[in-house]
Amino acid sequence: MKDMQISGAKTNNKNLLKWIETIAHLSKPDSIHLCDGSQEEYDDLCNQMVESGTFIRLNEQKRPNSFLCLSDPKDVARMESRTFVCPTNKSDAGPTNNWMHPDEMKEKLHALFDGCMRGRPMYVIPFSMGPLGSPIAHIGIEITDSPYVVVNMRIMTRMGQAALDVLGDKGTFVRCLHSVGAPLEPNQKDVPWPCDPENTYISHFPEERSIYSFGSGYGGNALLGKKCFALRIASVMARDEGWLAEHMLIVGVESPEGEKTYVTGAFPSACGKTNFAMLVPPKGFEGWKITTVGDDIAWIKPGPDGTLRAINPEAGFFGVAPGTSMDSNPNAMLSLTKNCIFTNVALTDDGDVWWEGMTDEPPAHLIDWTGQDWTPDCGRPAAHPNARFTAPIAQCPSFDPAWDDPEGVPVDAFIFGGRMSRNVPLVFQAFNWAHGVYLAATMGSEATAAAEDALPPMRRDPMAMLPFCGYNMAAYWNHWLNMGRLLSNHPRIFRVNWFRKDEKGKFLWPGFGENMRVLKWIVDRVRGRSHGVESPLGYMPRHKDIHWEGLDYDPEIFYEIMAIDRDESVTEARSHEELFDKFFDRLPKEFIHHRELFKSRLWRSPEVWELARPDF
Ligand code: OXD
Ligand code: MN
Repeated sequence: MKDMQISGAKTNNKNLLKWIETIAHLSKPDSIHLCDGSQEEYDDLCNQMVESGTFIRLNEQKRPNSFLCLSDPKDVARMESRTFVCPTNKSDAGPTNNWMHPDEMKEKLHALFDGCMRGRPMYVIPFSMGPLGSPIAHIGIEITDSPYVVVNMRIMTRMGQAALDVLGDKGTFVRCLHSVGAPLEPNQKDVPWPCDPENTYISHFPEERSIYSFGSGYGGNALLGKKCFALRIASVMARDEGWLAEHMLIVGVESPEGEKTYVTGAFPSACGKTNFAMLVPPKGFEGWKITTVGDDIAWIKPGPDGTLRAINPEAGFFGVAPGTSMDSNPNAMLSLTKNCIFTNVALTDDGDVWWEGMTDEPPAHLIDWTGQDWTPDCGRPAAHPNARFTAPIAQCPSFDPAWDDPEGVPVDAFIFGGRMSRNVPLVFQAFNWAHGVYLAATMGSEATAAAEDALPPMRRDPMAMLPFCGYNMAAYWNHWLNMGRLLSNHPRIFRVNWFRKDEKGKFLWPGFGENMRVLKWIVDRVRGRSHGVESPLGYMPRHKDIHWEGLDYDPEIFYEIMAIDRDESVTEARSHEELFDKFFDRLPKEFIHHRELFKSRLWRSPEVWELARPDF
């Protein structure tokens, strides 16, 4: 291969220059561009994509500097079945990850990457996960042949020359290699969304801290800073270095007196995480503020004073659009007024975007996410259910002033929540750290409601990390237990469940802004101000411990939503055994102990516990 010039930003980092050369040699692009992260570079790439048909520029009056992108219908979501974690030993990936021996996977990938960028430019994206220069942040370099990835990474990370400056001449970085897997022959016309779904591999090599992703241009498969680096690879770095890389939002809770408490929340996908991260306090909470540090991922390191400090490694939201409206999440909607990229939503006749749930009345005509004409009676969704917006956090009205603080924010509570229609109360607190780790590890979430009287199918999603933990899940639980031992004053751990239903299938809790009431109890517990009664599951609020002003909520419903049924809990405890069996010898011994304690608390208990009642 002839010597290729590198346009754009400058670096003297020898390891980086060598890696660029090696990849260019292998993938044979037409040119190499080292991204500087400037507005001019971003605008040029967007204009090129408008020209090539990948992007549609939205109406400048309605949605300035914003674009719509429609993907190939075969490339619309994270592909868990094509995602691999490849340490040398299978047991280090554990039973919850797809595994292939690294030599075998590398051989496959080298064949796929050989010549895969022919006819395309190769972009080198330097990025910082976390505030530039933060002791909690880390640098990554993504090499890609997708301009869509470049512009999304500019919103989602601190990207360009500034990240190269932090890297310096000798700094190390996580290698993130990506290709859409669609080389172009001379004179071959490109398609708007090149991809290769049949050969898609999203592969992680935790021992060398590298990622190779081939064949998909979508979301977490392609924006490698997000799930691949910030969770799968970072979870391994965190284990080795004594910190936590978690699938968690971070919010600040500010009282009218100005007292600020930061909490993080881990929720499986589709449990309203973005809404919680941007919660608007309801009636009765005048003067209270919820501020957003992050909506998806938290990196958390012990600070010099023995507390935990958290940063959001990302700088943007890559949120699910359908269901987002001025009612459900005004802060998200207001973040989307300009400088955004929309993927797989629908286009209105006046050049704006629309998705299901954005307004009560759908427009009379749209171009849907597949590019076809759409009318309300056509029987198809207008936006893909996993349609996304990419928006800068700095545009969010609720952003926390410390969201970009290199020191991070102090964490006082960890909240874990799944989607459970039965028997998991609205909120309860772990008795201690190890019990909290147990509660987080056994967290489950229901997929869809099945036949009326059958229990809906439930997927255990420990710490909401099932698809994102880069090593053996049982070793990860051990790491959590160890972290508690390291900390002089660890955060308190809570479980929440916004999704409990009555016998007729109606939600018992209004959710959204009203979740503030639960959050306030959590803050009061952390600050030692509120009562919690002991139940078989953990400490619980009584009715009088919750701030009810501004909400007319029948106390009887509160008792119902807090009730624990003994028979169902015994079934639950048994199913923890099923989960644990998968991990045999790696299972932390503390978990057996906590399961037995849970069972014995249940046998001691009445058939139904209604601790929230005033007589308890
Ligand atoms: C996400 C997810 O896209 O968790 O954030 O699936
Ligand atoms: Mn997520």
